[in-house]
Amino acid sequence: MKEIPIGLVGYGTIGQGVAAILEMNGEQISRKLGAKLYLKHVIEKNVRNFDVPVDKSIISTELESLLRDPTVKVGIELVGGTTIAKEIVQKLLMSGKHVVTANKALLAHHGTELFELARKNDRCIAFEASCGGGIPLVESIRRGLLANDIQAMCGILNGTCNYILTSMTKEGKGYETALREAQNLGFAEADPTLDVNGTDSAHKLTILSSMAFGQAVPFEAVNISGIDTVDIQDIKCGEEFGYVMKLLAIAVKDNDGISVRVHPAFISLDNPLASVSSSFNAVSIYGNAVGHTMFYGRGAGQLPTASAVLSDVVDIILGNSLQTFSQLAVLPDLTNPAPIKPIAEIESRYYLRLMVVDRPSVMAGFTTILGNHDISISSVIQREASQTDGTDEPIVPVVVLTHKAKEGDIQSAINEIQQLDFVSQKPVCIRVVDQHQEFA
Ligand code: HSE
Repeated sequence: MKEIPIGLVGYGTIGQGVAAILEMNGEQISRKLGAKLYLKHVIEKNVRNFDVPVDKSIISTELESLLRDPTVKVGIELVGGTTIAKEIVQKLLMSGKHVVTANKALLAHHGTELFELARKNDRCIAFEASCGGGIPLVESIRRGLLANDIQAMCGILNGTCNYILTSMTKEGKGYETALREAQNLGFAEADPTLDVNGTDSAHKLTILSSMAFGQAVPFEAVNISGIDTVDIQDIKCGEEFGYVMKLLAIAVKDNDGISVRVHPAFISLDNPLASVSSSFNAVSIYGNAVGHTMFYGRGAGQLPTASAVLSDVVDIILGNSLQTFSQLAVLPDLTNPAPIKPIAEIESRYYLRLMVVDRPSVMAGFTTILGNHDISISSVIQREASQTDGTDEPIVPVVVLTHKAKEGDIQSAINEIQQLDFVSQKPVCIRVVDQHQEFA
C-alpha cells in the first residue's frame, strides 16, 4: 500500500491527539483512503516525556528538517498563537506544502494574508479544526449549505465557557472552581483568558460568518463580552424566568448590514441550544432555502479536535481541499468586505439587575429613565431586603425584563441609571436572545 508522509509542527495536546488517532484508527483510515498516512516529522521546541510517545527518530526542534523534505506535501500547524505560528504557516506554504491548522486566532487576524500567500504558491490552507473542534462546521457551511443565502447563525462556540456555565447552572459551582475543572479536563487553553473573555468565540465567529455570508467580516467588527464577570445570582434569577445562560456567538444579516457579537445571553428552555451542556458546542444556521439546521458535537478536547485535523489531511490528499480552496470564492481574500451594522442599532430584549436602596420613588426614578429612552418594561421583580450597605437603608435587587429595545438606548439608559443616588452599583445587563425566525 502507498505510504503518505505528513509533518506535524507542535506536539502538544492536539498534536498528540493526531498521533493517538493514527495509532487507534490508522488501519481504518488506510482502508478508506487506499494509502497509509504516517508521521514523518514531528517538530516540537520542548521535547519531553509525552503522554503519547513519539519515535525519537522523527522528532526535531528544527522546522527546517520538515521544510527541506520534498516528500512531505502536508504540514500541520498546531503551535497556536499568532506570531511564531504565522511564520511557520508562511514557511510551510513557501516550501510548497499544504497547511492544516486548528489555529482560529491566526486565521481570524491574518487569514486574508495567509490565504493570499497560499494561492500564490498554489497551495491550500485547511482549517476544519479551528472552529467547533470535531464538528464538521467549516465544510458544512462552505459546501453543504452553498446553495443558500445564509441569514443568521447563532451558536455556542467555546467548550470551556459552556462547561463553566453548565457547572454553575446545574451544580451551583462558583466560577473559579468550574474554570479549574475545565482546565484539568483539557478544554481550556493553557491561558484561559481568551476563552472566558469571549475572544476565542469571536475568532471562530469571524471565520464562520465570513464564509457563511461570503463577505469578509473583520475580527474587529465583533462586539465581545465574556463570562468572566457573570454572577451566579443572575444565572439563578434567569432560571426563575425560564431562561438558561449561554455564551452565544451571533451573526445576523439584514437589510442594514451584518451584525456580529459574542456575549452571555439568556435563552429560553425551548431553544435547542439550551440543552447543549458541558464542553459541547452547537451552532444553529438559518438558510433561506434549507431553513434551520443545527450542528452539535465536541468543540474542544484532544481527540475531537485531532479528528478534524486528520479529516483535513485526508481531504488534501484526495485533492478536494485545493479544489474547494481555489475555486470557491468564499474566503475573505476573495470576497468584498461585509457592511457592518453598528452595535447600537441591534435590537434585543434585556434583563437588567439593579441594586437599589429600598425607599420611596426608586422604581419611578429608573422606570422614567427607561421610558425616556423608548424602552418598554415587560416584567419587574423586587426582592425583599436581605443585605444592607452598612447604613439603615437596605439594598435590594430589582430585576427588570424589557421588550425589544435598541442596544444604544439601553446603554444610554444604564449610564443615566447608574448616576442615580439610590443605585449602589453598575446595573447588570444581559441580553435575552430569541430564536431566529426561519425564512425571516
Ligand atoms: N479552548 C477552546 C474551547 C477549544 O474551550 O472551546 C479550542 O478552540
